[in-house]
Amino acid sequence: MAEATFNFPRNFVWGTASAAHQNEGNNTNNNWYAFEQANGRIQHGHKAGLAADWWGGRWREDFDRAAEAGQTAHRLSIEWSRIQPTPDRWNEDALDNYRQMVRGLRERGMTPMVTLHHFTDPLWIYERGGWMNDVSDQFALFTEKVVGAFKEYVNQWVTINEPNVYAAMGYVLGDFPPGRKNEIFNSFKVMTNLVRGHAAAYHTIHRVQQNAQVGMAHQYRGILPKRTWLPLDVGLAGMLSGLFNDFFPHAAATGVLKFPGWRYKIHHAKGTQDFFGVNYYTREYVAFHPLALLGKRSYDPNAELSDTGFIANEPLGFYDALKWANAYRLPIIVTENGVEDADDHMRPRYLAQHIHQMWRAVNFNWPIKGYYYWSLVDNFEWSFGWKYRFGLWGLDVDTQKRIKRPSAGLYAEICKENGISSEVVQKYCPEVFEKLFPS
Ligand code: BGC
Repeated sequence: MAEATFNFPRNFVWGTASAAHQNEGNNTNNNWYAFEQANGRIQHGHKAGLAADWWGGRWREDFDRAAEAGQTAHRLSIEWSRIQPTPDRWNEDALDNYRQMVRGLRERGMTPMVTLHHFTDPLWIYERGGWMNDVSDQFALFTEKVVGAFKEYVNQWVTINEPNVYAAMGYVLGDFPPGRKNEIFNSFKVMTNLVRGHAAAYHTIHRVQQNAQVGMAHQYRGILPKRTWLPLDVGLAGMLSGLFNDFFPHAAATGVLKFPGWRYKIHHAKGTQDFFGVNYYTREYVAFHPLALLGKRSYDPNAELSDTGFIANEPLGFYDALKWANAYRLPIIVTENGVEDADDHMRPRYLAQHIHQMWRAVNFNWPIKGYYYWSLVDNFEWSFGWKYRFGLWGLDVDTQKRIKRPSAGLYAEICKENGISSEVVQKYCPEVFEKLFPS
């Protein structure tokens, strides 16, 4: 049997990622809270509630576990509505609570990466129409406050998490607040304002902290034509991928916003990323259909699906995502990758296979600097509520008890080894051994 280790470069960063609303609990002043109160928005009527109770202090035990498990970094987000509950008020206690968290990471030997916007907006922004308006000045003020407060501990910042998902889910698919469907023009407006917000935050961060590293977390989803011989499928896949995958990174690189049929320039958005964050989960196929605006979307019928069918295990799509990211010629950080899998039957192989693809990419000398698994502990999965479980540690929402999944052990071995060995694959997911280490 082959014996080998896929090693990663020295100083490669191994972490996990999380987000304020999903983990903290008791966030009652944002658009998601409002959304959760409305009937039928969240599956099974679930609510974030106490979430993983990080606001109550349970981040301490979770960060202890992460550090103990060899993780060297954690990506978390700051909830705007806590820091600035109303336009004219800053909440210093909330700032202090977050300061303890980022300092807590440092004390445990982990590097904090902080996201300034992860899907949630304060009610006072939301009720005025949210990002349908240019709120970049307000976002910059919040950014200035946060960076000024934490710059002693943090110098890696993600301005906006997955602006493509935010616009598509809120205005085209209707699964995120404000729950609108097929409002294509409004989604373009929101996308434009998110570019403005990102650019304003980028410049603000650098003004307050010269040595900051700033990026966005871009979700890349492989969007491939179902029938490669049919120009309609090829054209549709290209158009959707252009809008979903390329729009934001292209805008941040060039200042040009490329909509189908027209272009728009925001000069100060050009060159506003110091690193390139990639979130990758899966890839899909689209088929043109005269009655479906976005075509009919499906997964490869041969691909293995997660419990609920949400994610297809497509490690090659991860390789494609990294290749795509590499075209932007910036240091790359995998800011999220993971799978929902309550009983952990699939996660170990998903992890091993994805990390193997990342190792292939690293061997082409693509400048991949780190990997953040989503997520450390189960958390509130937006409109899917508590059914979808992404954690290395499970969470009993009623008792707040953490349950270690086998994948937590696997990931710890990867972090500590700075690589993935044949022995570890044999131990946690022998079913993919031959694929990763062919004899
Ligand atoms: C988001 C996370 C989410 C994860 C799993 C990403 O799109 O940034 O907030 O929990 O995917 O669906």
